[in-house]
Amino acid sequence: MKKLIDFLKFTAGVLAAANAMAPVPVIIGGNIVAKHSEPYILSLQRSGSHFCGGSLGTFVSKGVTAAHCYYSSGVTAVAGAHNIKQSESTTQKIQVDTFRRHPNYNSRTLINDIAVLLLRSSFVIDDYVVPISLPAHQNNEWMPNGADVRVCGWGNTSSSSSNYPSELHCVNVDIVSNSICNDRSHYNGEILKGMFCAGILDVGGKDACQGDSGGPVTYNGQLVGATSWGYGCAQAKYPGVYTDVAMFKNWIDSQ
Ligand code: ARG
Repeated sequence: MKKLIDFLKFTAGVLAAANAMAPVPVIIGGNIVAKHSEPYILSLQRSGSHFCGGSLGTFVSKGVTAAHCYYSSGVTAVAGAHNIKQSESTTQKIQVDTFRRHPNYNSRTLINDIAVLLLRSSFVIDDYVVPISLPAHQNNEWMPNGADVRVCGWGNTSSSSSNYPSELHCVNVDIVSNSICNDRSHYNGEILKGMFCAGILDVGGKDACQGDSGGPVTYNGQLVGATSWGYGCAQAKYPGVYTDVAMFKNWIDSQ
């Protein structure tokens, strides 16, 4: 079922892209950032290969990522990285002891797409590895429509093919209120409680993409989101969809 949904989502994305016939700039539409400008970001790796992002939130032995990034074992959290294809002296690598998905995560709807990584030991805070604070707990959508947030990762930089970068990319996008994102001309009801949208509405060109999942969205210096899903990448009608970290703050803290 999940595969079918993914396929349908993918197909919808391809069709929408073909319809738009607009060039989409090569995160998508963002830039390589200054080294270690996001010292809280984690690259989650298996056998040395990046597969998802994550964040080091407040506790140095605990990461935050998306539930759909789950593997039962063999995951290493890498902090202090910039170029993940090089061996960098700034990196610290710690194995994930427990990859704890939210108990109510649903892989079909992607509701509650959040997970906590309990690490085998603690990262040492230095110039390259610094945790980021989480916002106060919220019970509902709380960021204003149009707010400027930043999303970062080592994910695909192309919306039409595969181009996985070595260096960290970030892009700034705008919060799109759930009511707009959920209307019939956008996600038509698929945006559920605990999700938020961000992009350049009805324009596209800036977005997270495959490989950015689980990675950070920041706003006012706090970790407000984890990259979750979208129809294709950077499409005008389909902003990126993120897990609202503030709405899971109490659950994250209690892990
Ligand atoms: N699910 C993707 C991943 O596993 C992230 C997709 C984000 N897509 C988007 N259009 N913002 O990496």
